[in-house]
Amino acid sequence: MKHIPVILFGVGGVGRALVQQIVASRDQMLARNACHFELVALADSHHWLWQPQGLSNEQLLAAVAAKQERQPLGDQPRPGNLEIVQQAEAAWLNNVIIVDVTASDGMEPVLDFALERRYGVVLANKKPLAGPWPTARRYFNHPLLRHESTVGGGQPVIATLRYLLDTNDPILRIEGQLSGTLGFICQQMDEGVPFSRALAAAKGRGYTEPDPREDLAGRDVMRKVMILGRMAGWPLEENDIQVESLYPSALAHLSVREFMAAAVALDPALRDRVNAAGVAGEVLRYVAELSAGQGTVGLRPVPMGSALANLKYISFRTGRYNDEPLLIAGKGAGVEMTAAGVLGDMVDLAREAFGR
Ligand SMILES: NC(=O)c1ccc[n+]([C@@H]2O[C@H](COP(=O)([O-])OP(=O)(O)OC[C@H]3O[C@@H](n4cnc5c(N)ncnc54)[C@H](OP(=O)(O)O)[C@@H]3O)[C@@H](O)[C@H]2O)c1
Repeated sequence: MKHIPVILFGVGGVGRALVQQIVASRDQMLARNACHFELVALADSHHWLWQPQGLSNEQLLAAVAAKQERQPLGDQPRPGNLEIVQQAEAAWLNNVIIVDVTASDGMEPVLDFALERRYGVVLANKKPLAGPWPTARRYFNHPLLRHESTVGGGQPVIATLRYLLDTNDPILRIEGQLSGTLGFICQQMDEGVPFSRALAAAKGRGYTEPDPREDLAGRDVMRKVMILGRMAGWPLEENDIQVESLYPSALAHLSVREFMAAAVALDPALRDRVNAAGVAGEVLRYVAELSAGQGTVGLRPVPMGSALANLKYISFRTGRYNDEPLLIAGKGAGVEMTAAGVLGDMVDLAREAFGR
C-alpha cells in the first residue's frame, strides 16, 4: 500500500468537500488503488494544522466542522506557504502531493519548489495556469501536475482535451458556457426576471463570488479559456481574449452593497437585448469561443433549444470531430464535483506518477 502525504492549501468550500471525500473513501481507496492519502498539513489564509504522521480522521472532520462554523482552523498561526512545503521536506516525506484549492495569486514559488522535489501538484486554482505565459508555460503538460477541476467543475474536460492532443487530433475550435453563475443569471433573464434580481438571487444562493463583479467581469471564464487555449498549443495572453464585462467601469469602485443596489441601472439595456434575441427565436448566453489562438467571452444570442442554450456544456471541434463536435455536458461546478475532480487527479498522480 502507498502512503501519500498531502498538503492542502485552502479549506473553503472545495477544500472542505475534498477532506470529507478523502475520509469517506478510505476503504474504497485502499481496495481499488492500494493507496492512503495522509493529510499532513491543512492551511487556510491564517492558520494551519500540521502532523507529519498524518492528521487523524477525527482531527480532519473537526477541522472541517470548525471552518464550516466560521471558526479558526486551529490556534497555530501559519508559516509562509513555502515554509510549509519545506517542513514536509525537512520531515523526509516522499511522494508528497500539494493541493491548491485557494483562489490565491502568488502560489508559483510553492509549486516550483514542489515540482523541483518531484512532488505532485493538483490545482483547482486557475491563477498559476493563467498568469503570464513565460511563467505559466512550465506548468502545462508537466508529468507531475494535474488540474482537472480548473475547467468544467469536475467534468472531464481537461482529460478529454489531453486525450485529443495525445492522439494528435488538432484542436480547431472550443466553445462552451463555462460559468455556472452566469448561466443561471441568463436562464433567469429568459424567464423575464430583471438582471439585478437574477444577480441578487444568484448571490443569495451562494453561486457568486463574495463580490459578484468577479463573475460579471468575465475574468474567471477568461482564465478557463486561457487554460484550454494554452493546452491546445496557443500561447495566449490576456490581450488575445476579448472579454465582455457585464457592468461598466463606473461601478467598479463601489462597495459590494452599493454595487448590488446600482445594478438596477443595468436592467433596461439587458432586457432589451434579451427581448431582441427572443424575437429572433434566440436566448442570450455568456459564451466562450476559442479558435486559431484567439478567444472571445461574452453575451451572445444563441438559438433557443440549441445545446448551447440548454446545457452547461463544452464542445471541441477537431480534425477528427469536425463535422460533429465532441460534447461534454452535464452537471458541472459545485464544490462536491470540483472536489471530486481534485481527488481524481490525486489518484491519477498516485497511480501514474508515483508508480504502483
Ligand atoms: N466553488 C466551485 O464550485 C469551484 C469550481 C471550480 C473551481 N473552483 C476553484 O477552486 C478554488 C477554491 O474555491 P472555493 O469555492 O473553495 O473558495 P473559497 O470557499 O473562497 O475558499 C478559499 C480558501 O482558500 C484559503 N486561502 C486563501 N489564501 C490562502 C493562502 N495563501 N494559503 C492557503 N489558503 C488560502 C481561504 O482561507 P480562509 O478560509 O482563511 O479565508 C479559504 O479557505 C478557487 O480557485 C476556485 O476558483 C471552485
